Amino acid sequence: MMFNYNRRPIVAGDLPEHNIPGIRFTDGPRGIVMYNSTCFPVAMARGATWDPELEHQVADAIGVEARVQGANLFAGVCINLLRHPAWGRAQETYGEDPVHLTAMGVAAVEGVQRHVMACVKHFACNSIEDSRFKLDVQIDERTLHELYLPHFKACADAGAASFMSAYNKVNGQWCGHSSDLLTEILKNKWGFAGFVMSDFVFGIRNGVGALAGGQDLEMPFRMHFGRRVLRALKRGRLDHDRVDDAATRLIQTQRRFSTVGEPRRYQPSVVAGQAHRELARNVAADSMVLLQNYEINRTPTLPLDFSRLKSVALLGRLAGAANLGDHGSSRVRPLAVRTFQQGLADRSPDTKLLFYDGRRHRRAARLAARAEAAIVVVGQSHRDEGENLVLWGGDRRELTLSAADERLVKSVAAANPRTIVVLVGGAPIVCESWRDDVAAIVMAWYPGMAGGDALADILAGDRDPGGRLPCVFPRSADDLPFFDRRARSIRYDLYHGYRYQDRNGMQPAWPFGFGLSFADIKLDSIDPEVASDRQSGHLFSFVVRNASERPGTTLAQLFVTYPADGPERPPRELKAFRKLRLDGGETASVTLAIADDDLRYYDPGASRFVRQTGRYAASLVLDGRDLRSHAWTFDVVAGQSNN
Ligand code: BGC
Repeated sequence: MMFNYNRRPIVAGDLPEHNIPGIRFTDGPRGIVMYNSTCFPVAMARGATWDPELEHQVADAIGVEARVQGANLFAGVCINLLRHPAWGRAQETYGEDPVHLTAMGVAAVEGVQRHVMACVKHFACNSIEDSRFKLDVQIDERTLHELYLPHFKACADAGAASFMSAYNKVNGQWCGHSSDLLTEILKNKWGFAGFVMSDFVFGIRNGVGALAGGQDLEMPFRMHFGRRVLRALKRGRLDHDRVDDAATRLIQTQRRFSTVGEPRRYQPSVVAGQAHRELARNVAADSMVLLQNYEINRTPTLPLDFSRLKSVALLGRLAGAANLGDHGSSRVRPLAVRTFQQGLADRSPDTKLLFYDGRRHRRAARLAARAEAAIVVVGQSHRDEGENLVLWGGDRRELTLSAADERLVKSVAAANPRTIVVLVGGAPIVCESWRDDVAAIVMAWYPGMAGGDALADILAGDRDPGGRLPCVFPRSADDLPFFDRRARSIRYDLYHGYRYQDRNGMQPAWPFGFGLSFADIKLDSIDPEVASDRQSGHLFSFVVRNASERPGTTLAQLFVTYPADGPERPPRELKAFRKLRLDGGETASVTLAIADDDLRYYDPGASRFVRQTGRYAASLVLDGRDLRSHAWTFDVVAGQSNN
């Protein structure tokens, strides 16, 4: 069934006699699942761009393709927080931090909703795949509101048309039935005026319970919202007003979107047309993370100077494969995919490309020894991670490469000192056993239909590797919170990713926000004064400088440390960030802002966010390097919250 899944819009609740189109659903997130649409890099790769404006452009293109092909709702804004990299669907979300998820999720909602309705998913705490139909996530109110929900609230505030409830339970209630999540929090507390739809088929266990809990639409067809609901209404076991409310939400949201759009842009030729393919290539280059780039003879391994290289070995079964990611509900089917092999062959026609799928390591090593540089492509495919389709996908068993891939890397590295490893996958990979054997490592994620050209752009130095890690890359699976893909119950707390590693004094392999540039961008100076005012909050200013001649990218992140006398909090948390592009020799003055409201904690006793007065510290992190000596202190005083 997955093979033909969502080729056309999945239609629900259409009433042509009343001019109501109904919900015309298309899945995502890496593009439109219907027909043969543009396949963008997966959401995790787009998270690595740290560029909400670029995500807005991608979402705008996706919205146009949805509209042209007859859908009016894009259900591909997945913003589940990545608690653990073994989650099989990690690739569908943007990363591990709520501030970053908020920026990317809101950009996606706003971009898509220029054309069609957006559906934000999976509400909430959906971050284990294999046991998703059984799992009960036990979570305290603080953790829920401070870590797992803020980005959902931000998307609701941004006017998202729809939310999809998750399959799992939260604190004993199925999310699809959860009056706590759907009614109390989403609709009452946050004032969400759109509609909730169920995740497909198993997202509702009984119609009456789901409707009573706040579910508005059963998808993809009626199983539980049929006769039993009518009977319950007749017998007074279900409130008429609740059913009216669900219908009203569905119709009013469609109404709200009836005037949205830019008809001139809705030409069939835009679907996977040149402009969108170029955007896909651009985003892929901006998402690739240069993790390691050792010098050989005082020259960094990358970029490669193809004009001087006579031969390069390209090795690995994924080097020539159309490897776009999951084959479940997020599968996009572009007509043509530019593989790494094609991208490199076209970029360097005068360099002999010795291509081999790497099955026999000795042969791969022999080829590598004959070449001036060796590129090894290793990592995951839809078989190893993705939606659980029984035969493939699901949660990852190992965070390392497969034994065969590790052996390939080591054999090639032993044969050629200029070995470059290109990693493919949707989440962190543990590289400790081989990373020091190789000269350079690029995390390419699942880079979409134009990924082969984007990799060539990076390796040749035509583009700066623009990606920065949206999640910690650990040294070992032991440096992560407990994860069990078969769990029926699991406890989530305030610690995962960098929060967990900071608290436990662990060193990551590569930290959150990490990524190298080919340029040499540094902190030039900081303004030690924190300008604080009611309107703009606390302002932190500094200057960065590109000390090299080539254009480059950098990611500035601002982390905050809390006053010691308040409730328990992670040692530091991200509060603001900015991705910058600088020409050779350019300097840029940057000001990042933090509002008092961004610093609050959730008080379960009062059921609301509360301000903690006192002295805070903020520190600047550039590309994952903590410039601790450049920390500011500032005070938060008593006052009114903005919300
Ligand atoms: C997934 C959702 C998806 C839905 C419809 C479910 O299995 O969890 O993300 O939108 O299927 O394809």
